[in-house]
Amino acid sequence: MNTLNLTEFSPAPAGPATAIEATAALLQQRLGPAPAIAVLLGTGWAPFADQVQGGAVVPYADLPAFPVLGVGGHSGTLKTGRIGSTAVAVLGGRKHAYETGEADGMKGAIRSLAAWGVKVVVQTNAAGSMDPAMRPGELMLISDHLNISQRSPLFGEPGDGRFIDMGNAYDRSLRAQARAAADATGHGSALHEGVYAWFMGPQFETPAEIRMLRTLGGHAVGMRTVPETILARHAGLRVLALSLFTNMAAGMQAEALSHAHTLATANAASDRAVAVLAAVVQALEL
Ligand code: HPA
Repeated sequence: MNTLNLTEFSPAPAGPATAIEATAALLQQRLGPAPAIAVLLGTGWAPFADQVQGGAVVPYADLPAFPVLGVGGHSGTLKTGRIGSTAVAVLGGRKHAYETGEADGMKGAIRSLAAWGVKVVVQTNAAGSMDPAMRPGELMLISDHLNISQRSPLFGEPGDGRFIDMGNAYDRSLRAQARAAADATGHGSALHEGVYAWFMGPQFETPAEIRMLRTLGGHAVGMRTVPETILARHAGLRVLALSLFTNMAAGMQAEALSHAHTLATANAASDRAVAVLAAVVQALEL
């Protein structure tokens, strides 16, 4: 049969750019003008959302460019409101590269935030410590990252815009402001600064891999954050990122690593993490 059946031709599906524009328009319509700051909540940081007052909540499912999340742990909502006098958008839940093997699961979400008018992304995560001086329950400002996977959410991106500078990926000025805010709240001694090494997971690292990452200059190791930093920089957003240490990395503690252990430590340490994050967000001058 070579007869064309025209009924098979449906309208062109909404392409990614269209989905991003539609999402930005929806955010504007349902939440109003974009706040300058969006906070991405990782494991252990979720209670921060409870401190954000007023505003409104939109489920990711209503936002065409946002990811469909796997089950467990994350709310999959975007919430706006104020912490003190600072307006923020809070993203509870994200797509991880280890869910699919693809690093671009948050591409539509990050680009929609930028199209809406957000200027700064504050990322939070749980991480393993590779530095004996940085202990579980303590925090680290990410100063730089190691992308061992060599995966990028910009694979396939057309145009010269993909060749982004990563020299100041974790904004120096925002880091200095975060440091000052943590010091002012008396939490400064629990806030380290260092290099985050991204391992895609979902398995934890081997002790040999941790020795390699330490040799390369890493302080924290985790399965998140780096793709979102690349996407944010590509979208013209400034990035600040905080890790909450839930364990010493593989080979550096007697106890076996497990997700249950990550969650338990993250929850036990979340009060301080959230207090620091609240102080930092309120202190940022953009
Ligand atoms: N490795 C990778 N990801 C993690 C770790 C770790 O040790 N702890 C929390 N998330």
